[in-house]
Amino acid sequence: MQYSKLGEDLTISKLVTGMWQLSGAHGYIPSTSSVVTAMKCYTDYGVTTFDLADHYGDAEIYVGEFRKEVGKGFSDSHFQFLTKWVPRPGLMSKRVVEDAVDRSLKRMQCDRLDLLQFHWWDYSDKRYLDALGHLQELVDQGKIRCLGLTNFDTEHLQTIVGQGIRICSNQVQFSVLDQRPLVEMVDYCHHHGIGVLAYGTLCGGFISEKYVGLPEPSRRALDTASLAKYYQMIRVWGGWGLFQELLFVLKEIGEKYGVNVSQVAMRFVLEQRAVAGILVGARLGLSDHLNDNLNLRTKLMTCIEL
Ligand SMILES: NC(=O)c1ccc[n+]([C@@H]2O[C@H](COP(=O)([O-])OP(=O)(O)OC[C@H]3O[C@@H](n4cnc5c(N)ncnc54)[C@H](OP(=O)(O)O)[C@@H]3O)[C@@H](O)[C@H]2O)c1
Repeated sequence: MQYSKLGEDLTISKLVTGMWQLSGAHGYIPSTSSVVTAMKCYTDYGVTTFDLADHYGDAEIYVGEFRKEVGKGFSDSHFQFLTKWVPRPGLMSKRVVEDAVDRSLKRMQCDRLDLLQFHWWDYSDKRYLDALGHLQELVDQGKIRCLGLTNFDTEHLQTIVGQGIRICSNQVQFSVLDQRPLVEMVDYCHHHGIGVLAYGTLCGGFISEKYVGLPEPSRRALDTASLAKYYQMIRVWGGWGLFQELLFVLKEIGEKYGVNVSQVAMRFVLEQRAVAGILVGARLGLSDHLNDNLNLRTKLMTCIEL
């Protein structure tokens, strides 16, 4: 496994396991012990970093259980859990911010959050700057190791950095299909030492061998929140016909290098400047693509080191 650094002292695996898939919007959720066992399996292979959020169902609780069951005997920084705070719009007092952080700490059974990624819904409501100011204080007090953002555009990222807030990462949608971060984001992040964390790399699983040559899915087939979300993306991007053309091109590239469609797509994002990691969702304990995703490093690696 290859690793990246966020900020001064947080090292993450470049392949990050996304836990939105355990939020309940992606079908059946296995028992806590099955999830913890699956997490252990990922970490045994060096995939030591997980991405989650305060609103991903019990994801933070699974992390707490994992720390209790598996984490003993490992140093604090051996595993990395990147959570998010997605507050409802409202007053962003020190109390409100600290309460949210304390809740995540309690659920995750730890004294310090590795990375807290902050989301905001409405730029015209400037209280996001209050929230980030308080979060920065919590970094300085040692409750948060690194402060990150999610879904911020470059303009507002610049405003935040301009206020002296130390941002380590910004998590955004980034894939062969959605290349918006290439317009400005990656250059800005590269020059300011901010890592881009990419989600949607596989468009919820659509960018895979499974969908090559398939007719447009029915609404019924969109049975996870992720598939429903990225099906809309595909439609906005150019529609199913164009998407099939893209899959065939990825397949052709994959055949040249002996890898599959998903591996080419993941690799495409990983190779972009400033990208510190790709988040690949996993229905832990239910469905497993770990072997494929680990092969990323051995196959397409011949020319470029991750
Ligand atoms: N910040 C945000 O606003 C935001 C938004 C969305 C997601 N995220 C984060 O990003 C993570 C990823 O979620 P996503 O929705 O973007 O999904 P994704 O990673 O694009 O797709 C995940 C799905 O792809 C399939 N898959 C994984 N590896 C594969 C492989 N090698 N070959 C074929 N299929 C493969 C699996 O489907 P099966 O389970 O059916 O096998 C998996 O559930 C989330 O868990 C979350 O942490 C963040």
